[in-house]
Amino acid sequence: MRQARIESSTGLDLPTTGSMVERARAARRAVVFSGAGLSKESGLDTFRGPGGLWERMRPEDLATPQAFARDPETVWRWYAWRWQQVAGATPNPAHREIARWEGRFESLQVVTQNVDGLHLAAGSTGVLELHGTIAFARCSVCSRREPMGEAVARSAQEPPRCPACSGCLRPDVVWFGEQLPEGVFEAAAEASSAAHLFLTVGTSATVYPAAGLIEIAARSGALVIEVNVEPTPLSDLADVRMAGPAAEMVPALGRWLDRLG
Ligand code: APR
Repeated sequence: MRQARIESSTGLDLPTTGSMVERARAARRAVVFSGAGLSKESGLDTFRGPGGLWERMRPEDLATPQAFARDPETVWRWYAWRWQQVAGATPNPAHREIARWEGRFESLQVVTQNVDGLHLAAGSTGVLELHGTIAFARCSVCSRREPMGEAVARSAQEPPRCPACSGCLRPDVVWFGEQLPEGVFEAAAEASSAAHLFLTVGTSATVYPAAGLIEIAARSGALVIEVNVEPTPLSDLADVRMAGPAAEMVPALGRWLDRLG
């Protein structure tokens, strides 16, 4: 049976004794699973929720292979715009705190649904990017990759052609209905099932198979900590729920772990 949940909206009121504390203190293997909310304080929009991208636009018009086949110009322009936002964004205190945790745990696996590369920019290593990356474009025919910045510089209005085979370039991200990059989900699932501590941060926990990692970790007995400004469909699986912005809650969580020693 799962133990009673701890709720915090400040990060300052987390307990210093009890079984959860002992589990956090003893945790050697950790997984951080992140979503768009993690990058909100870096100035990037989320997909769902108030002000989210999918409030203004329809995913089926922009983030599916069918949309790209139908209207490659619109899809390319949208990704060129998003790439420009990402290129101007920098990691926030939550990304930096997570990068710092590499020295804290025996193993730390960062798994992200974000395509913005901000975990890497903050210094995290071995990041599993479940939904690909917007930092690269990829030929839709021969799969040759090219930095997105170079591709956008050649054309921001329509997909440029592949220099090798003249195929149409597309962003190197995973669209709805597409397979995740080979082996990446499997590695994430393995780390999640072995994790003692699993932090899910800034994700609506609605897109599968990614969200299934939270279920795997909970089932496997990890101490599950959720950081989100609002509850998610999987909040009930969390042992600790921190209700607030990632850029405040994740550093507060780090200070709590520091105090536990
Ligand atoms: N701090 C923490 N959480 C936040 C913040 C914040 N400052 N702002 C918003 N959130 C939360 C929202 O409450 C929401 O639950 O972040 C979550 C963002 O959810 P989504 O926009 O659905 O992002 P994500 O879960 O990453 O989406 C999954 O859907 O469209 C696809 O491929 C895209 O990878 C993406 C996937």
